[in-house]
Amino acid sequence: MTLVVTTPTGHVGSRVVRLLLQAGVRPRVLVRDPARLDEATRARVEVRQGDLTDAEFVRDSVAGTRTLFWVDPTPHTTADPIETSLRTAAPLIAAARAGEVERVVLLSSIGAEKRHGVGHIDALAGIEEQLDATGAHVLHLRCAYFFTNLLFSLEGLSQGVLTTAFDPDHPMPWVDPRDIGDVVAARLLSDSWRGRVVQAVHGPEDLTFHQVARILTEALGRLIRLDPVSDDATRDALRAAGLPPSAVEGMVGMTAGSRGLVPEQPRDLLTTTPTPLSAWAHAHLRPLLEG
Ligand SMILES: NC(=O)c1ccc[n+]([C@@H]2O[C@H](COP(=O)([O-])OP(=O)(O)OC[C@H]3O[C@@H](n4cnc5c(N)ncnc54)[C@H](OP(=O)(O)O)[C@@H]3O)[C@@H](O)[C@H]2O)c1
Repeated sequence: MTLVVTTPTGHVGSRVVRLLLQAGVRPRVLVRDPARLDEATRARVEVRQGDLTDAEFVRDSVAGTRTLFWVDPTPHTTADPIETSLRTAAPLIAAARAGEVERVVLLSSIGAEKRHGVGHIDALAGIEEQLDATGAHVLHLRCAYFFTNLLFSLEGLSQGVLTTAFDPDHPMPWVDPRDIGDVVAARLLSDSWRGRVVQAVHGPEDLTFHQVARILTEALGRLIRLDPVSDDATRDALRAAGLPPSAVEGMVGMTAGSRGLVPEQPRDLLTTTPTPLSAWAHAHLRPLLEG
């Protein structure tokens, strides 16, 4: 049984690989730079070194796969992010259509259910739809807002400010990517699901950004003030940072399109994961700000 994992060095992928190894499975990992895997992991997995934007590499590496975990590797900062994400997934989709890949778990996002109008998330919606048409068994994990997005706000947090363009009063689900890895690994190891499945991964609670600022204040032991900004202010800042217009719209679109979003699947036993933001912030964010 060939089990393929993309982005094994990522927040989610690294957890998936560890759990698969602990389950006695030797996954094939597609990795740009094997040196970024720790030595113990590298010794236990089948390494295929290459870039996921290299269509030939993906085609060769996924041929004859029983189960595959696909993470779109396209940075939000890329020019034409939606087109790039779809082009990157194209060899996987062709392989699934040809029967070369039997089962795919896709790291998708809440908001993908809207299909359009959610910036770069529209690409995940497109990948979902294209995978659905292949005839392979496909599972779309519609994941909530990652705790690790806060790592992009380290500079502001070090000055006691959390800036956001999201509606600060709208509760949305937040999740620890490590917990997503748990769900991914369980689904990769299970043969009991078939056809097309959608599963949200919501984390333990829905939070407004005001609540997030209060949780961080407690967990980091310093006052964190929320600084809500408009879409236009975000646009200006991203343009000033030199991002191409298509990337700017892809990023602003994710926030604007998520405003007022109520995820398609409710929070329940299957969609709720355990780690609270407070525990994650204390364990991962606090040391970075104290260092
Ligand atoms: N952030 C959110 O709130 C959110 C919500 C829902 C869904 N998602 C989805 O989550 C995914 C990100 O997951 P994550 O946080 O686990 O990732 P991450 O920690 O940001 O890591 C990115 C991974 O992608 C790899 N990568 C980047 N470009 C690559 C390329 N060209 N070829 C091969 N590998 C490449 C990196 O490898 P290197 O070690 O080589 O850099 C790394 O393993 C995205 O697809 C996003 O759409 C995110």
